[in-house]
Amino acid sequence: MKKTIDKLYETHNLDKDEFLYILKNFDTRSGEYLFEKSRQTALKHFGNSIYTRGLIEFTNYCKNNCYYCGISSSNLHAERYRLSADEILACCKTGYRLGYRTFVLQGGEDFFYSDDDIIDIIEKIKAGYSDCAVTLSIGERSHESYKRYFKAGADRYLLRHETSDEEHYKKLHPKSLSLSNRKQCLYNLKEIGFQVGTGFMIGSPYQTIENIAEDLIFIKEFSPEMVGMGPFIPHRDTIFADEPAGSLELTLLLIGIVRLLLPSSLIPSTTALGTINSNGREKGILAGANVVMPNLSPVSVRKKYSLYDNKICTGEEAAECSNCLQNRMKSIGYKLVVDRGDYKASDRH
Ligand code: 5AD
Ligand code: FES
Repeated sequence: MKKTIDKLYETHNLDKDEFLYILKNFDTRSGEYLFEKSRQTALKHFGNSIYTRGLIEFTNYCKNNCYYCGISSSNLHAERYRLSADEILACCKTGYRLGYRTFVLQGGEDFFYSDDDIIDIIEKIKAGYSDCAVTLSIGERSHESYKRYFKAGADRYLLRHETSDEEHYKKLHPKSLSLSNRKQCLYNLKEIGFQVGTGFMIGSPYQTIENIAEDLIFIKEFSPEMVGMGPFIPHRDTIFADEPAGSLELTLLLIGIVRLLLPSSLIPSTTALGTINSNGREKGILAGANVVMPNLSPVSVRKKYSLYDNKICTGEEAAECSNCLQNRMKSIGYKLVVDRGDYKASDRH
């Protein structure tokens, strides 16, 4: 095991069999060995600074019906909402005061917001907060639309590939969605010039360790600037309501592996990780993550943006989450910093 971990650390790559070997044989002792290396790698690139992204969940309308997701169109129990440009800007104002210099606009695939609407929101944020980055997380749109968002000033785009196996993709999504289109979107975003984030859920229904090994190979090949990974957590109104959640251990392992695969990538310690374990986000940082994404959405809508059950922070004011996270990071020797936290290519492997 040590030899394989050393190879990953030194070459930033492994083949499928080697990934499978780690995934199958990983235990507490090898964990200590791997996390020491992944943590040191993150420290080398970012020091003990943790970047923040203020997450604004601006719509929970969605045209899609992904089987795992609580805001899918087929969930008739979901109470739907949309935020106006002014409401979004009010979130940014709060976030800016709290020290956030990246705003993430996340929503379901909601074509109520035309390209012009999205562009108007991007331009208003950029005009009001010129030292801030804007990240979009609004799903699959056309190449032309992506180009227009970029021209309007959007800096980054998050679009998880969810699984890099065609068959698995079909088990998680309805026929209207395809892995090939998802990947095409990712390549379009990259070609346009966005800092791009992809990623996948850990422990999603039907996921095998072969699938995970393929995900790692895809991530290495695509080389995104950001990689989002969190445990799958069931939502009561979906067909996966009774499926088990993904595990803390496997999620941490994957954070550690991806840190070694792409040393200077931006990796969030996700809210989902904080949901399955009360210290999940701290553990994610200690495994090699370097980003947290506190919720900036108005408290009145937070519970409605429910992708999975028992999501944390849905009752807290933005300032409380900011303090809470600062304290949590302090408790493990890290600090939240006031910084856009852009991707920096680095030869400091
Ligand atoms: N559990 C965990 N993560 C989920 N997501 C969607 N539904 C769930 C769930 N039930 C993730 C998807 C999506 C991101 C915004 O949230 O990976 O890309
Ligand atoms: Fe929201 Fe701790 S981060 S309450």
